[in-house]
Amino acid sequence: MEFEYKNNELYVEDVRVNDIAESVGTPVYIYSKKHFMEQFNKFDKAFSRKHCISFAIKANSNLNVIKTFAELGSGADIVSKGELFRALKAGIEPSKMVFSGVAKTKDEIKYALENDIMMINLESVDELYAVNDTAKEMNKKARIAFRINPDVDPKTHPYISTGLKKNKFGIPYDEAVESYIKARNLDNIEIYGVQFHIGSQLLDSTPIYDASVKIAQLIRELKKENIEIKAIDVGGGLGVVYNKETDAPPSVEIYANQIEKAFKEFPDALLVCEPGRFLVGNGGILVTQVVYHKTNINKNFIIVDAGMNDLIRPSLYGAYQEIQPIKYKKGNKIVCDIVGPICETSDSFARDYEIENPKNGEYLAVFSSGAYGFTMSSNYNSKTRPAEVMVEKDRYKIIRQRENLEDLIKGEIL
Ligand SMILES: Cc1ncc(COP(=O)(O)O)c(C=O)c1O
Repeated sequence: MEFEYKNNELYVEDVRVNDIAESVGTPVYIYSKKHFMEQFNKFDKAFSRKHCISFAIKANSNLNVIKTFAELGSGADIVSKGELFRALKAGIEPSKMVFSGVAKTKDEIKYALENDIMMINLESVDELYAVNDTAKEMNKKARIAFRINPDVDPKTHPYISTGLKKNKFGIPYDEAVESYIKARNLDNIEIYGVQFHIGSQLLDSTPIYDASVKIAQLIRELKKENIEIKAIDVGGGLGVVYNKETDAPPSVEIYANQIEKAFKEFPDALLVCEPGRFLVGNGGILVTQVVYHKTNINKNFIIVDAGMNDLIRPSLYGAYQEIQPIKYKKGNKIVCDIVGPICETSDSFARDYEIENPKNGEYLAVFSSGAYGFTMSSNYNSKTRPAEVMVEKDRYKIIRQRENLEDLIKGEIL
């Protein structure tokens, strides 16, 4: 276990969380390198066919985190010029990068073509023409896939559900063949793959299987048109446990097995996977300090120094994340809302939550903060963003400095 209480004190690997909080300050994200590596290796081993893991770097885009995966052979799923820049800086090979997103600009398309990434995953026919035009200007051929919207309900939170007809993502399934035919007729396009991504935090393997079966059928139809698919990109989405009582994602072996079963008649195609949350979600905590207690009528509040600007998942999706003191001292429980300093009622990490009552000045750990934590942070209320720390065995390293006041106004012109 990379996050474990030893003698009632929380450790990340072999480092006492209290030591980091005292020396680096709070709020602070703390990651376990071992957890990241183990998750990657588990994912990798679960697939028996030729595959490429392209880490969805939106989940955690710190250079050190990306580099950890790059050293294990990972590629990257990127969604912006900035993410491509980061992936290159961290040492990911362009031939293992796929570019998703509904609104790639000409500048972004150009950057992707200059760097010769594996493929651009197109989300509309408009985008197909934009890529073709840019490739023509550069005298290149652009390798592309279409992101297909299979209209399968991923049974996850509506904000992270992407594979339904009503969502903005991808090309409608029924228009897929005709879109590929349009692509075939363009001089500066090389049809390379097909992609789908139905949603995130998937706790049931049936939707991913159903979507895969639909995409397999599409590949057959494309074959009839003499269109060959060299890469099948199944997106990301495999869920992790946030709440031990309610979350039961399928094992990565079951997940891999369902996908391999659906695509077994295309053994020569490269299988591309874009996991994000699975690789990093449970590999990080956010440590925050209790600032004050207060009681309004009969409601207890514990007010901490981290806010929704540091970690927005609970405010944005009502997401559950376990919160515990980093030092246990049995007894004296309290039921309370754990809230941050931001001037929004939604700025809360937990409501009606039972916890051992910490004193002001003590530290709490918000678990499962490795994915969509720092990457979704902001400077709202002119808060400086927190530091990030990576633990490796009995050592730790600051991998991103806490922002200071000058960082806050960088680029502003008075
Ligand atoms: C296209 C695409 N691929 C991969 C991912 C990663 O998803 P997850 O973190 O659930 O694995 C996302 C997440 O939104 C995505 O939009």
